[in-house]
Amino acid sequence: MGKLFDRFDARFHVRRPHKRFLQRRIPEGLNYTYCFGGLALTFFIVLAVTGLMLSVYYIPSEKEAYRSILVINDEIFLGWLVRSLHKWAASFFIVMIILHTIRVFVTRSYRPPRELNWIVGCCTFLVAMASAFTGYLLTWDQRAYWATEVGTAMIQTIPLIGDHLMYAVRGSAEISGKTLIRFYSIHVLFLPLCMGFLMWMHFHMVKRQGIARRL
Ligand code: HEM
Repeated sequence: MGKLFDRFDARFHVRRPHKRFLQRRIPEGLNYTYCFGGLALTFFIVLAVTGLMLSVYYIPSEKEAYRSILVINDEIFLGWLVRSLHKWAASFFIVMIILHTIRVFVTRSYRPPRELNWIVGCCTFLVAMASAFTGYLLTWDQRAYWATEVGTAMIQTIPLIGDHLMYAVRGSAEISGKTLIRFYSIHVLFLPLCMGFLMWMHFHMVKRQGIARRL
């Protein structure tokens, strides 16, 4: 395997830059709480891979969505496993982000020069929440429908623009097939692209600034 990789690397040249990227100095005295960020990334990768797999069989239409979920669960080979992995990875992703944020807060790593990374982190948090909310509707069952009904109705309480904003989010006055397609597109395209960009900024800053020294 090593020899095979050497031959591949002789043409592709991936080993040197990646070694440089992966082998970095870290301050003394770090503990396991510093793993939460990396774990969040791991769960994000699981989400992306299983999400891609689910998108092959999921049908984002008013008539077909619920049935396609049943097909994934009961008829597609290991479909239930991929769906469960997606669901559990989503929960653990959110838990890891929360733990990571607590760690950064407690160690006061948000202070300059890392204040911008804290803000970028807050944006990833919002995008993660929006992903969870839009993904919830996709099962297109009673629970999903009414949760989205309540969630989107809250937008209406915003003064002046509330009604318009709620209509924009739903795509119609009530939750409908238009809402489903809108949420699907936001869930699988807009938010993952935003998240990718934010993570790139986040890691770029971690790489450039290094991990903060422990207090
Ligand atoms: C998608 C979610 C996130 C991922 C995958 C992620 C990942 C990481 C990783 C791998 C590190 C370097 C190792 C570590 O210190 O744990 C890091 C550092 C950092 N993260 Fe996050 N993070 C996320 C969300 C957040 C959030 C929500 C915040 C705060 C609101 C945040 C603020 C920071 C800061 C300030 C650092 C630098 C910490 C230091 O130097 O000690 N991150 N992040």
